Amino acid sequence: MNLLETLDNTSSFLSEFEERVRDVDPVIKGILFSEILFLQASLGGRPPSQILESGRAQGQSTKLLSLCFPDSQVISVEHNNSSPDATIALERLASLPNVAPLFGDSRIVLPALVQQNSIALIDGPKGFRALPLAVRLLATGKVRAVYLHDFYQGLPERRYIERHIPEVFFSDNPDFVRQSKHLDGPCWTTYAKAGEAGRRPYRFLGQDQESYGPTMACIPHLPDVNYRRLLNRIHLARVVSKLQDRFLRAA
Ligand SMILES: C[S@@+](CC[C@H](N)C(=O)[O-])C[C@H]1O[C@@H](n2cnc3c(N)ncnc32)[C@H](O)[C@@H]1O
Repeated sequence: MNLLETLDNTSSFLSEFEERVRDVDPVIKGILFSEILFLQASLGGRPPSQILESGRAQGQSTKLLSLCFPDSQVISVEHNNSSPDATIALERLASLPNVAPLFGDSRIVLPALVQQNSIALIDGPKGFRALPLAVRLLATGKVRAVYLHDFYQGLPERRYIERHIPEVFFSDNPDFVRQSKHLDGPCWTTYAKAGEAGRRPYRFLGQDQESYGPTMACIPHLPDVNYRRLLNRIHLARVVSKLQDRFLRAA
């Protein structure tokens, strides 16, 4: 699993993907449609048996995963059960037989549920806080790849994984964007209608961006990586970064 294979696979998945997601109404907090195509193309013709999702909100990614992988079991974990998003998601997902919407902290819930031939999508917790869960899941040897959402260029966590996570690759690759960006028209229109006029390709959070969109990172499982050691390194990096923050605040 790598970027070149993903780019090669993209055109062959495109028309089926468009057909499957045709009736999905995008929601404001949801992932871009092209980002789920990226995930699908990266897996090639081998769908996972189980998809573990962390961070459901209104369930856009959950619904897209369910429709694109009808033979996979989608286990979706959301921490916040008191937000109106929780009810919206449960209503949106009620008719999808392959989705199990759970509540809890995915860092506790998901490692206990992982089965052979899984993948995981982490869209909350965000940034550095997503990394220990990602690496713990990879360390089981049962997860083929972990996908992390919101890893666009310029973020410190993006730089960190580019430097320290072997073979990671991203959905903001220009060739992938050229092949898939037309899928996201309805998403950008939804943001504009919701008053988020500043959220559009290459521009979000009120700033021009190098990346096309929020961006999915794919971390493939590699048999020769020592994930326990990687996890220790990540814990250490987080401690150092917290101490640096504290030091800078005090200075
Ligand atoms: C950006 S939203 C997810 C959007 C969703 N993936 C979609 O495409 O519609 C992030 C969600 O992650 C949830 N979250 C944050 N930390 C979490 C955790 N440890 N376990 C489960 N959910 C978590 C938040 O409550 C929030 O609802």
